[in-house]
Amino acid sequence: MDTADRLLQGIVAIVGADNVLVGDELSDRFAHIWQTHIPLRATAVALPTRIEQVSRILTLCNQHEVSVVVHGGRTNMVGSTETDGSELVISMEKLNRILEIDSDSKTVTVEAGVILEDLHRAVQEVDLMFPITYGAKGSAQVGGMIATNAGGLRVFRYGMTRQWVLGLEAVLANGTVISSMKKLVKDNSGPDLKQLFIGSEGTLGVVTRAVLRLCHPPSHRSTAFVALLDYSAVVRFLKSMEQVLGPSLTAFEIIWKDTYQSMCGILKGGGIPLAFGYPLYVLLETSGDASACGAGRLEKLLEKSLLRGEVLDAVVAGSDTEQALFWRIREDVDHIVSQCTHDQHFDVSLPVADIGAYVDRVSAALDRVLEVDKYFVYGHMADGNMHLVVSKTVGSEELKERVNHIVYTPLRDYGGSISAEHGIGLHKKPYLSYCRNPEEMQLMRTLKNALDPKGILNPGKIL
Ligand code: MLT
Ligand code: ZN
Repeated sequence: MDTADRLLQGIVAIVGADNVLVGDELSDRFAHIWQTHIPLRATAVALPTRIEQVSRILTLCNQHEVSVVVHGGRTNMVGSTETDGSELVISMEKLNRILEIDSDSKTVTVEAGVILEDLHRAVQEVDLMFPITYGAKGSAQVGGMIATNAGGLRVFRYGMTRQWVLGLEAVLANGTVISSMKKLVKDNSGPDLKQLFIGSEGTLGVVTRAVLRLCHPPSHRSTAFVALLDYSAVVRFLKSMEQVLGPSLTAFEIIWKDTYQSMCGILKGGGIPLAFGYPLYVLLETSGDASACGAGRLEKLLEKSLLRGEVLDAVVAGSDTEQALFWRIREDVDHIVSQCTHDQHFDVSLPVADIGAYVDRVSAALDRVLEVDKYFVYGHMADGNMHLVVSKTVGSEELKERVNHIVYTPLRDYGGSISAEHGIGLHKKPYLSYCRNPEEMQLMRTLKNALDPKGILNPGKIL
């Protein structure tokens, strides 16, 4: 019996034959939800149902030096869940229990495979809120959200995933379970070890459980689309909204002209919030009590902005249904991606003041590339986080590099980052040195070697 067979037998002994996929069952799966047509390549997929099984699988893989890639919702944007065929895939989908909601401590304890939207619903039932949210919430799993330190649509007000993880459990490459499932907001008893696993994209350990912090949901939420003349007008508008609304301003998303029109395609022609053709659009949200955040207050504020000539047009969602629709226009990135071929996705970070000039510079350069047939620009402007989706008529490596170069090179002039929230994974690895210095990268390597000396966890990702 060769090593692969012995390993498979070992995995079957740990999780049971029903929880190991090979052959057709394996190739029916995929590494990313946008690539369901590409069969997954792996030696097998293991579906553990208990944490202790994850530990035993890793112990076995470490012994045999078999690489492991963890699959959650497979919504990652940087190739972090890709495989080359030699790895064992561990899918967390059966570790999907919400173990406890503690409304007094305002915490929820979950297994890694819980889908983010299910978590939102469960805590909503006890009148609490988990504020991290993003377009992929219907598929994304909590373990992946933590492993990538996901951001999303309300970071401006609530911060990234990191701020909401109180306790964490992760399994190291050698099977050791590092469990610190505390509900503590404050715990200064030495370095905060859980931070090693948050945002390390499954390269330092496999997240299995977490205690997440919750908050009280706002009683009112209002959403508006606003049209503006140019980027400097958007910066002024953001400042004035922050001044008036303070912490009640919970989202401020910017969408460039053509991207808005394409995003509105989900409406199939009917009921677009604002007419097409304005240079820039902002989707903003206020949350809090009725006096500060009712639709009436937002309407009045925007009326004043219109009168002062700060904005060109504005519309406030008149009902919960309309509000959800406004958000769907922005969140449904799949819709624009489905119009692309050979697409490249970017997630850059730079100072808010420089975004307009940066986008102009990148757009001018992309316009000169014949094979770029369209591109979409939008982002979490108040966080200094822009997304760019570039569609091309040709899939060559040379062209891909050229586009990467166009997008990444100017970031150096602004002290920007090649990844604001999506991570590095495989796709951005060659450009890590654009925003991390050699000493930082060496420290990352030291940590990797210390925690995973055989390099079995999500190999080749980040570094
Ligand atoms: C988002 O902001 O919608 C997500 O980060 C995904 C994306 O933009 O591509
Ligand atoms: Zn985003």
